[in-house]
Amino acid sequence: MRFFYGTYLLRGTVKYLGMLGIEMNIDINLVSQDAKKTIPADVLKIPFGTVFTDHMFSMRYADDRWCDAEIHEYRPLSLSPAALCLHYAQGIFEGMKAYRRGETVLLFRPEKNFERFNESAKRMVMPEVDSGFALETLKKLLKIERAWVPDVLGSSLYIRPTMIATESKLGVRPSSEYLYYIILSPVGPYFEAGFSPVKIYVSDKYVRAAKGGTGSAKASGNYAASLLAGTDATKVGYTQVLWLDAHERKWLEEIGAANVFVKFDDEVATPSLTGTILSGITRDSVLTLLNEEGMKATERNISIQEVLEGIKSGKVLEIFASGTAAIISPIGHLWYKGQEYCVGTGDIGNTTRWLYNTLTGIQSGQIENSHGWVVSID
Ligand code: PLP
Ligand code: COI
Repeated sequence: MRFFYGTYLLRGTVKYLGMLGIEMNIDINLVSQDAKKTIPADVLKIPFGTVFTDHMFSMRYADDRWCDAEIHEYRPLSLSPAALCLHYAQGIFEGMKAYRRGETVLLFRPEKNFERFNESAKRMVMPEVDSGFALETLKKLLKIERAWVPDVLGSSLYIRPTMIATESKLGVRPSSEYLYYIILSPVGPYFEAGFSPVKIYVSDKYVRAAKGGTGSAKASGNYAASLLAGTDATKVGYTQVLWLDAHERKWLEEIGAANVFVKFDDEVATPSLTGTILSGITRDSVLTLLNEEGMKATERNISIQEVLEGIKSGKVLEIFASGTAAIISPIGHLWYKGQEYCVGTGDIGNTTRWLYNTLTGIQSGQIENSHGWVVSID
């Protein structure tokens, strides 16, 4: 009994009914006006994910049900040193953003994030969260924190729904207790350089995920496993790692915390979803936008040799990364086996720029979009 169906009230308390007919309210305990933090004046200067708003949402899972839902001040967690998440990485998260258009606060395809959150939960043997309830809760939190949503182009309020295993036990088995919470952080660009080409290190030594593993889940352990290769990359002046497949070290997978696209002449290709990479919501949106624009957008296997030969022959015109944090990030150079390759002119390509402008335009409500991707919190 790990799933609850909800009924929600948009104002006042949010209620939901569990399978046993148990109704739950969200308690709202707001920080006093005096205790509120100062909202940073220049969000573009804040290093990604270092400043958090006044409030957060949390609820606990115990005795086979979610309970104690509350919006309260942003505060440290109290955890047993034996909490299972700390030892065996039973933890998942999501990344999404809220954008401002005047007084309106917008979310981009938020239901997709909660769908994926529940897919990650299943893979990590964690309880699911009712996605309708999760979205209503998020909207409620955002209404309280509305003033924190920045209005500068390229900035947003980053949203981090998280679930961790909290049972105090050293046996390796799924926890019986969990904490789900949402924290909010005003952010500018993920990469320090902003929307300008980054240099990427192709790792042929370490791998991120193998078939049958947890690569397609947004599981915390995947990111821990990626750190060593990331450190190798930064030591030699590269920003992120481009992962190759675990079996042959031949096929492109993804870039750090983003999906990868390669523009070959008239085709824009991205690796297929084979279970080892994250099914990016930005990736899906990019494929749709390219198709609508009449461009050939394909999901297929792309070998590193095809990319390097294409760079040499001029067939590879652009490479870019796509993700919630990364938005659309141009790749100017690739490092592979001790050699650096310059992609095109090393500058931002036309398709990359068009996608960046179109996507950020849609997300901030400046460009209309017929897919219903943008949801207002009101
Ligand atoms: N791949 C990984 C490993 C990620 O962490 C992310 C970021 O969420 C992505 C891809 C891109 O996914 P999305 O576009 O849904 O943010
Ligand atoms: C996101 O794009 O939301 C991510 O989760 C990336 C993050 C690991 C920085």
